[in-house]
Amino acid sequence: MKLLVLAVLVQLSLVRADVPGSFVNRTLLGMQPASLSTGMCDGHRYYTNCGMGSCYDVQVCLGPSTEYRSCSMSNPDKPFCNNGECSAEPVFSQMCWPTQIYCTSEGWFPDPKTCSIYHSCEGPYMMSDVYQCPSGYVFNPETTFCKKKQTDEDCIKLDCRQKTALTPFGNSKKYFAFCNPMGISTYDIRVYQCPAEMEFNGKTCVFKCPDEGLFAMVSNSKVYYDCAAAGEDGVAEVCEEELVYDSVTKFCV
Ligand SMILES: *[C@@H]1O[C@H](CO)[C@@H](O)[C@H](O)[C@H]1NC(C)=O
Repeated sequence: MKLLVLAVLVQLSLVRADVPGSFVNRTLLGMQPASLSTGMCDGHRYYTNCGMGSCYDVQVCLGPSTEYRSCSMSNPDKPFCNNGECSAEPVFSQMCWPTQIYCTSEGWFPDPKTCSIYHSCEGPYMMSDVYQCPSGYVFNPETTFCKKKQTDEDCIKLDCRQKTALTPFGNSKKYFAFCNPMGISTYDIRVYQCPAEMEFNGKTCVFKCPDEGLFAMVSNSKVYYDCAAAGEDGVAEVCEEELVYDSVTKFCV
């Protein structure tokens, strides 16, 4: 019995242990020897290839003619082309470069389309560094590490077709996105995170009051939250002119 309990405990801790992903070094990708595939059909066989320089299209070689199919259009669960087949996870190489995101603030960010990759940002207006989870793992927005994929829900995907102004990122209370339509089904997507003490409620970032009273905003010393009761949303107030909020006296000083 004791052994059984121990085994279950070990298993639980294994399931829970999130692991870091690995940095995808674009410089190293560029230095790889060119792949043998030139992205060209041989003109007489019938087979599939990955499109030249693209990891999103499968090229169908039909004897003397050739056609392209977008992997994500054929099956949104398998948006990448690896070795001539559409697949769920990207294999980055000289032919397939990871897509960076535009950073909106400093920190870790989920990828809007692919749950096995995520991003590191040094600050706003910069391009991200791309990280890739080990095979079978997905980004966990709660821990900002990779967790083993157990169910389909673990793979969080952004649905830009929602009619809300800001798009939720699964059930995340931290991350959300702004989808700007660029065409029929393409969007320019910016991923945001709520400030440290705030959480996303489906519409915006709010301060969840721990209690009645006034509470300092960590990221801005001029701002404090006025709370009527525990669990309600705090109302942000700004100290006048040169004053800053002092959490000891609970006044602008
Ligand atoms: C990426 O690879 C290049 C070439 O080896 C190396 O100079 C660079 O330091 C690497 N970048 C990081 C962040 O590891």
